[in-house]
Amino acid sequence: TKDGYPSFMAKEIQEQPDAVRRTLQGKVDAQGRITLADTDIEADFLMGLKKVIVIACGTASYSGQIAKYAIERWARVPVEVDLAHEFRYRSPMLDQHTLVLAISQSGETMDTLMAVRYAREQGARVLAVCNTPGATIPRESDAVFYTQAGPEVAVASTKAFLTQVTAVLILALYLAQLRDVGVGAEIGDAVEELRGIPEKVKQVLASERQIKDLAGALAGAPAVLFIGRHVGYPVALEGALKLKELAYTHAEGFAAGELKHGPIALLEPGQVVVVIVPSPIGSPILHAKTMSTIQEIKARGATIIGIAEEGDSVVNTWADEVVALPPTHPLLAPLLTTVPLQLLAAHIALARGMDVDQPRNLAKSVTVE
Ligand code: M6R
Repeated sequence: TKDGYPSFMAKEIQEQPDAVRRTLQGKVDAQGRITLADTDIEADFLMGLKKVIVIACGTASYSGQIAKYAIERWARVPVEVDLAHEFRYRSPMLDQHTLVLAISQSGETMDTLMAVRYAREQGARVLAVCNTPGATIPRESDAVFYTQAGPEVAVASTKAFLTQVTAVLILALYLAQLRDVGVGAEIGDAVEELRGIPEKVKQVLASERQIKDLAGALAGAPAVLFIGRHVGYPVALEGALKLKELAYTHAEGFAAGELKHGPIALLEPGQVVVVIVPSPIGSPILHAKTMSTIQEIKARGATIIGIAEEGDSVVNTWADEVVALPPTHPLLAPLLTTVPLQLLAAHIALARGMDVDQPRNLAKSVTVE
């Protein structure tokens, strides 16, 4: 049931702090170390791992892109991310030292299932990250990490995405711990920060009023661009996908550094650009680069909405509107920066009179290839 919320979407967005908390439960021991005791994957295999390939579709694939940044940074294992429907057709190189991470909320997505079967035939080990107990993908995988979002009813994914990001961060930290690659102190800090994330997600949800007003002003916009760097890039892709799905507004997400390689031609007065801004303290170099991109956008007269860390005075000078978020570790930032984009898409859709739970032409799980 909707428990008094106007839509499943609204309810599922609000459930995110609990969904993330449940996904973390039992994964951090009293010493602050990650344990994956209930995930049936041998430590020996993970220690000898040569490569990780993530396969997924849509929103789940963006959590896969975040996995790449986290696993490479913390565990120092090369990661490739592939859309499941592209994977088999590029003759991927896999062997018994490859871990394939199949991320799927429903566990029934046919494209992802076919990729899982192919990977296992080629001798790779498949770990499913799934939200649906007993679904086909986890049944056909070697091991499974269940996200604990609870049933997700709205067609557009929200809480499942946040728990997928949580799961891949846990996995990256676990791999780093096992492989002992010399980033020990950072791992400890990140684990500590992860435990505090549900509370910060709750704080971000408190910005709903501001975002609703913003959505009212943007409801008539013919197109919205989303840009980000590093983990902000997949978040930009997710923000654009949410807006397309829910509001049927043309939206495009791209890496902020790409702007000058083409998309800048789209900028003119009235064009709205949502910028995911890295932390000035946690990621000063990326922050400075994003600021110069913001100035280029401003010079073309476009409207800038910044999703930024609270107290970021530089972004405040340049952006037309800023949604301020609590500070966190740079790799954990998607758990916060995604939330205002979900709210923005949902409120633009509502302002345009759309059904946010059941957008046109879409199904909750895509069981055809
Ligand atoms: O159930 P899955 O996670 O495998 O689904 C993958 C995509 O179909 C799904 O994330 C889709 O992109 C959503 N509608 C996004 O909101």
